[in-house]
Amino acid sequence: MSTRVVIGAQWGDEGKGKIVDLLSDQADYVVRFQGGANAGHTLKFDDKKVVLHLIPSGIFNGNADCVIGNGVVIDPVALVEEIKGVQEMGFSLEGRFFISQTAHVILPYHKLLDQLKEKRRGGDAIGTTGRGIGPAYVSKVSRVGIRMIDLLDREILKNKIDQNLQDINFALENLYKEPTLKTEDLMAELEESIAALEPFICNTTNLLHEGINNHKNILLEGAQGTMLDVDHGTYPYVTSSSPTSGGACTGSGIPPTALDKVMGITKAYCTRVGNGPFPTELHGKVGDELRKKGHEFGATTGRPRRCGWLDLVALKYVVQLNGMNELTLTKMDVMDGFEEIKVCTKYIIDGKETDVFPLSLDDVEKVEPVYTSLPGWKNSIEGLTNWDDLPATAKSYIRFIEEYLGVKFTIISTGPKRSETILL
Ligand code: IMP
Repeated sequence: MSTRVVIGAQWGDEGKGKIVDLLSDQADYVVRFQGGANAGHTLKFDDKKVVLHLIPSGIFNGNADCVIGNGVVIDPVALVEEIKGVQEMGFSLEGRFFISQTAHVILPYHKLLDQLKEKRRGGDAIGTTGRGIGPAYVSKVSRVGIRMIDLLDREILKNKIDQNLQDINFALENLYKEPTLKTEDLMAELEESIAALEPFICNTTNLLHEGINNHKNILLEGAQGTMLDVDHGTYPYVTSSSPTSGGACTGSGIPPTALDKVMGITKAYCTRVGNGPFPTELHGKVGDELRKKGHEFGATTGRPRRCGWLDLVALKYVVQLNGMNELTLTKMDVMDGFEEIKVCTKYIIDGKETDVFPLSLDDVEKVEPVYTSLPGWKNSIEGLTNWDDLPATAKSYIRFIEEYLGVKFTIISTGPKRSETILL
């Protein structure tokens, strides 16, 4: 029995989907615990590419039950579309897919407000995915949110939408100069989705507690990455949830004492999508090369990702925050062909050297990265499955990272397919 949480150790897009898919054949439950349809987990089978936004990546492997936990914010229309897509691929969700009664609902006004607020911010925009994530979490913490269980009682739903629209319509009319919304229209828009989702809505907290009591294997799947955490990331350029091991507990109802493995997923380099500081960002030829070789375009929005060398100062901070006790290195094959590979091992801020990630945005923006240069390798490592087949310089690169962080890699990914993996 084990309860393992898989966490993005950078700014998201670390390749968690493939790793969760891989690990899920030993899992009895695979659980999403935060975020929403802002996430895009890309999985590649043979020639097929599938992108999941809300359904846990374990849905395609083994017999794991898949759970959307209370910490997730759900766009019912987007989820139903995704369910249909999975069913069309020949996978059944009956009896193996569960949605928390207490997960919050993303309504059309959340998406509208997300986009209008971003537009209003102009040059200071966060660069959100526009999926209504921030406004939905605002509704949640300001205690006016609508939860999945509320969808099942039309009277309650109507009253709550009515109540919410009072404030929202005021803002639409007076602040944004946009047409107002009507409760009846929102109810009608939701009707088909509610009918489709109703069979899956249940008490997932108890389901997972029973799983723990029955010594089941539980795999918690983080979305986004720790550097986008609302408390610990590069605030305000973050998402509105907690993609950390702490968030895994609050977002699922699984207690911290039940977590025994915390796996961090990092790419062999760094990317970031959206705005905000990124100390090792590369603007020239090398950045372009990483983007091209790594196909670094957003799975949800298609935006080109910003690319840079691996940042060990940030990664060490993330390892400590989450208590990571195992690591996975993804996209190692993207580093093929570089004569030298740089890794950031220190920062200079206001002329002073440090290896501590600064918490003030102002300081992060001032960082001058200090790099250690390591030799690259010429031969392609794409698709390798054996540690012994890696070039010596690739092994040294991996060992260098492990030594800096004090944590070992247990998985090295050498390509997008399930089979293109070195297990250590
Ligand atoms: P939001 O989560 O849509 O509010 O966006 C807030 C920030 O998080 C933006 O910079 C987004 O680009 C970023 N973000 C949200 N989801 C993901 C993801 O799955 N991968 C990478 N970045 C993300």
